[in-house]
Amino acid sequence: MSSSHRSIDAAELDRRERYHLMIACVVPRPIAWTSTMSSAGITNLAPFSFFGGVSSDPPTVMLSIGRRSDGSHKDTGRNLLETSEAVVHICSRDDGEVMVASSEGLPPETSEIDHLKLSTTASDRVAPPRLTDAAIAMEARRVHHQEVGHGPIDLFLLEVVRFHLREDLLSDGLPDPARLQAVGRMGGSYYCDTAAPFVIDRPK
Ligand SMILES: Cc1cc2nc3c(=O)[nH]c(=O)nc-3n(C[C@H](O)[C@H](O)[C@H](O)COP(=O)(O)O)c2cc1C
Repeated sequence: MSSSHRSIDAAELDRRERYHLMIACVVPRPIAWTSTMSSAGITNLAPFSFFGGVSSDPPTVMLSIGRRSDGSHKDTGRNLLETSEAVVHICSRDDGEVMVASSEGLPPETSEIDHLKLSTTASDRVAPPRLTDAAIAMEARRVHHQEVGHGPIDLFLLEVVRFHLREDLLSDGLPDPARLQAVGRMGGSYYCDTAAPFVIDRPK
């Protein structure tokens, strides 16, 4: 049986259609639940799923942050340009609703961390605090910034300088996917988690 496919030229779509197609096709996406700090010392927290690992030596992740409709930077983008530091958290299923709530577009002078009454712990190497109960927290510094596309979006490469892993989620010193229940984003308002991982052995 052969499958039939719907083929779509990206140029035929308007901006909104392209966005919805992209987020439904590139799935599941890990989520960088990111705390930053402005030059005035105001903390910020927001999730970003155009996020991925880039390199392990040194550990480097990428974050892609769109602009607001008036072309201004989102708070996270502006903070990364101003102060260069972040803590990227990996959110587990229990934190899913709070993580999504932290995407609310609050004014720059209001911290989502205070607004959502989340407890934080001082980071060791960077100024933004980390979320005390998060499954994984990665303290990171900006090593590269580039504007990409028509938005434009701001693409950041961040080098991870310190990891914090919740002890109760570890197996053999590494986060255990089933206990971690890391949340991923898919199309629309769909999310998934890693509660039911499976093993596929690689060829020798
Ligand atoms: C799960 C999730 C993933 C998101 N991913 C992105 C993303 O990759 N890029 C982006 O610009 N906005 C993304 N957003 C929207 C931002 O979180 C939202 O614009 C937020 O208000 C930005 O906050 P800030 O202005 O405090 O930085 C996402 C929202 C959610 C709920």
